Amino acid sequence: MVVIDPTGVRFTDFKGAPLAKKVEHLSWSPLMMEKRGFKHFMLKEIFEQPEVVRDTLQGRISLDTGGVALDEIGIPEATLRQVRKAVIIACGTSYHAGLVGKVFLESMARIPVDVEYASEFRYRDFILEKETLVIVVSQSGETADTLAALRASKDRCAAVLAVTNSRSSSIARDAHGVLYTHAGPEIGVAATKTFTAQMTALALIALHLAQVQDRMDAAARIAFIEEFQRIPHKMEKILGRAKAVEDLASRFLPFSHFLYLGRWVNFPVALEGALKLKEISYIHAEAYPGGEMKHGPIALIDEKMPTLAIVPEDRVYDKMLSNISEIKARNGTIIALASEDDAKIHERVDAVLAVPSADPLLMPFLTVMPLQLFAYYIAAKRGADVDQPRNLAKSVTVE
Ligand code: F6R
Repeated sequence: MVVIDPTGVRFTDFKGAPLAKKVEHLSWSPLMMEKRGFKHFMLKEIFEQPEVVRDTLQGRISLDTGGVALDEIGIPEATLRQVRKAVIIACGTSYHAGLVGKVFLESMARIPVDVEYASEFRYRDFILEKETLVIVVSQSGETADTLAALRASKDRCAAVLAVTNSRSSSIARDAHGVLYTHAGPEIGVAATKTFTAQMTALALIALHLAQVQDRMDAAARIAFIEEFQRIPHKMEKILGRAKAVEDLASRFLPFSHFLYLGRWVNFPVALEGALKLKEISYIHAEAYPGGEMKHGPIALIDEKMPTLAIVPEDRVYDKMLSNISEIKARNGTIIALASEDDAKIHERVDAVLAVPSADPLLMPFLTVMPLQLFAYYIAAKRGADVDQPRNLAKSVTVE
């Protein structure tokens, strides 16, 4: 029981006996809870993302040594050195961040990673080996399925590390270690800045494991950190072009179905872009890895179903171009999310959302932003309740 009155806050048990509670101060200010001139919290939170990436990186990386200081997580380095596999468990948008995290961990730390929906994992006869690091990702820290999966794995793996935005949450309390994202309060129900903060945290974990397990030398780590530190500025450039995304949203307002395609590290971004559109505008959107298109979804393509194709100049660029040709051959309309340096893409597609170039591994930080803005502007123009979409809750504390 808790009683809050002008004299203070008192906790008791159900018989009225006082309970002592530890006080924890949040660094969030009341100003952070205001819209500050933005029409919706979601738009404000999309615009806060460069700062969120800076804040989540701050104090944790060293450009001199290429080192990541993660003593705060509370899991001994000796344990992390012995990790041979990781399992990332999450729901919804956090699951999509986990899929990006898998690519980070496999590329940098060279350890195999499974990414699991918490609601599926907890009811399976799952197998965890002692050298497995379980990483649970949850912005709220209270998602019932993720918490249950954490509790079920706790004694069956090397350690459970939580990535969360919520201090003293159930997930933060129950995990062996916590890496906090510094996204500040997210009021819009649709997760945006917590997603980029989660990807930042997962990249830090990957870099840290790569360091303690000697999988990347200092020069490679320094080069990655340098590239990472340029990301917030590139995000700001994308935000400076928000009007172009808004104009595109007006053009595509009449459509009721969208297909999102991406490959490799941008496939999870396609999933996330489609989820954002579905949840706030109630428009049907599907996301597939480009390579899966010919195994079924291509049957959907006609002039009534536009495709958002994520096509940065990376190792799967040519493969994405083939997907684009296949769609064009079936009278499909294509919006490409492409590098601003890619002059050739314009003649192949109907519209381009240009993003700055970056290390291919870090492109999700950039490619996700026009997709968040696209979903936002479509929903706002349809008059939807962007910050409080129907049937959804910010913390899913029940199954
Ligand atoms: C989507 C969204 C949800 C959450 C999911 C998990 O915008 O917000 O899909 O990502 O409910 O929530 P957390 O991260 O709190 O565990």
